[in-house]
Formats: sequence, C-alpha cells, structure tokens
Amino acid sequence: MDKLKVAVGSDHGGYEYKQSIIKYLQTQNIEYSDEGTHSKDSCDYPAIAHKVCEKVISGKADRGILICGTGIGMSIAANKIKGIRAALCGDTFSAKASRAHNNANVLCLGQRVIGECLALDIVDIWLKTDFEGGRHQNRVNMLE
Ligand code: RB5
Repeated sequence: MDKLKVAVGSDHGGYEYKQSIIKYLQTQNIEYSDEGTHSKDSCDYPAIAHKVCEKVISGKADRGILICGTGIGMSIAANKIKGIRAALCGDTFSAKASRAHNNANVLCLGQRVIGECLALDIVDIWLKTDFEGGRHQNRVNMLE
C-alpha cells in the first residue's frame, strides 16, 4: 500500500476534508499530490475533477480522491472522462465493494453529507481494498 500514488482534490465545499485526508496519507506514508483547491474561496469543481482524473489516466497517480459539498458534482465530472470509474461513497461497505467489484479508480466524498471520521474510514478501506478481478473484470471491461 505504501507504493500507491494518490491524487487528491476538492472544491471549496470539500476543502477541509481534503486537508484531513492529506494528513491521513502522510501518516500512512502514502505518496500523494494535492491538485487543489488551496483555500476556502469559491471555485469550480469540474476543473479540479479534471486535474485529478488526468493524473489517474496518465498513470502519474494510481488512484484519485475528490471531495466537494455533496460528492455529486465531482462524481458526475469524473465519470465523464474515459477510463475513470468514480464511486461516490457514504459508507465503508460501498467503498470496499467499489474497489473489489468495480475497480473504482476515483473515490468521491461529500463533506456536507458525512462526518469526518467516517470519511477517513472510507478512504482507509478504499485504499486498502484490491480489485477481485474474475467475473468482475468482464463487467468492468463492458463499461468501456
Ligand atoms: C458548492 O457549493 C457545491 O455545489 C459543490 O461543492 C458540490 O456539492 C457540487 O456538487
């Protein structure tokens, strides 16, 4: 897990959780890049989603994490990009399944929806869960 590279981004609505997630990644010695935003000033979530997803698609990052107020805008923006499988998760079961079954390469979170401790638990389990492949690989192939 410590070889994983993660690109992290948020708009103003997810800025505080982005900072907490970065602290968590630092404690876990996980390599990361911070794709902004860098303050609580209002900004546009699609621009941040594109920056994080570009890192994933180009291979500069293995996974991406996007946070906005609801997680919805980020997930819509991310899932429009070919090759991105973004999962908006509000519970750890879905987070685990999104990796094991869907091979999700981007996790989306809503700062105004879930508590911070739950968000960090979701990040933890999402980063630690591997794709199961097998029958799920065929289904993921069909997405493309
Ligand atoms: C910003 O106010 C809010 O719309 C944004 O963070 C996000 O929730 C959009 O989906």
